[in-house]
Amino acid sequence: MNNGVARTPPMGWLAWERFRCITDCHSFPESCISEKLFMDMADRLDKDGWKDVGYMYVNIDDCWMAKERDATGRLYGDPERFPNGIKALADYVHGKGLKLGIYEDYGKLTCGGYPGSQGHEETDANTFAEWGIDMLKFDGCYSNDSSKAVGYPLMSEALNKTGRPMVYSCSWPAYEGGLPPKVNYTELGEICNLWRNYGDIQDSWDDIVNIIEWWATNQNVLVPAAGPGKWNDPDMLIVGDYSLSVDQSMAQFGMWAILAAPLFMSNDLRDIKPEFVQILQNKEVIAVSQDPMGIQGKRWLNKDKIQTWSRPLQNGQYAVAVLSTRTDGTPYNHSFSLSQLGIPSGAYDLLDLFPKKSMGKFLSKDQISVMVNPNGIVMMRATPVKFAVPLFDIEEWEE
Ligand code: DGJ
Repeated sequence: MNNGVARTPPMGWLAWERFRCITDCHSFPESCISEKLFMDMADRLDKDGWKDVGYMYVNIDDCWMAKERDATGRLYGDPERFPNGIKALADYVHGKGLKLGIYEDYGKLTCGGYPGSQGHEETDANTFAEWGIDMLKFDGCYSNDSSKAVGYPLMSEALNKTGRPMVYSCSWPAYEGGLPPKVNYTELGEICNLWRNYGDIQDSWDDIVNIIEWWATNQNVLVPAAGPGKWNDPDMLIVGDYSLSVDQSMAQFGMWAILAAPLFMSNDLRDIKPEFVQILQNKEVIAVSQDPMGIQGKRWLNKDKIQTWSRPLQNGQYAVAVLSTRTDGTPYNHSFSLSQLGIPSGAYDLLDLFPKKSMGKFLSKDQISVMVNPNGIVMMRATPVKFAVPLFDIEEWEE
């Protein structure tokens, strides 16, 4: 949607995958869905270097509301868990230079059983704007196909009418199988800033591999749908949680950057190991994610459980990822050339992005050999070599 926000994939933190719908704050004061949780995360985003590299959004997911609307029909936060109200939380988050996202559902109820927005679209959009909300994730439980087709555009309009720019994240296509003809990506690009296309991610490497496979299989549909202000969303980053190894974490983060995906971590920033912080704060990989052209990457090669992807970047540069889903326990030697990845002929400087190490210069037809760890990634940026004086004709050199 062309509403001035999310011109690059938004980055931040989102409660759902890690904290779900924990509402018992007496037993679980540190992990229940409460104002304390979001204030803690805002503190960490501010103090631990996250904000400095681009993670700006602190996002509430399901289970934040009181079980009923108030006497005037407005939503409000559960009074025990959000005693100061959502507006005070938004002020707190804004005071740290960050943004606050919230969750609703276009149905009678949210997936967690809290009041839905159907029939209250304008009231809810106005409430969110008055509170100072910066992003809305709009879920799709308890509504049918035809009501979603009305509800998602209606909420888009209501948000725009408030005059407050809010990133609008639509779960709509995930409920419709994610593909045309049921899903109209042209319409989504006009009314939403991002959308979930596919199932919920859990804390599992298999889920990541499965999501990447679906993105590759359907890339001819998904790549043209994405661009500044409109992004496909393969769901949250689970780096720093319980299941991923360091290599798998680099793989998820690198692939989400290649896919021009929103980067919402769902982890516990109060208790995250330094090796995961280092991955999630890698500025080279973040620069790939945040490239201003906003072109989503594609898979070009796929053999022996080694996939090679590329993504066009500004100034004739390309990001390249070699992803291994092999489990044979030893690094795999993979060779490819840039010309096999849709990259124009020429000479390129290659930078290996996780170790931030130069790999040297390559012609696009040269074989590049990398060692990729099992369930791991090698991620590179190819920058066209600029010769001060044209020494020779590059095409001739390539003959
Ligand atoms: C389904 C969504 O896909 C999840 O991301 C999460 O928001 C849950 N609903 C909340 O109930």
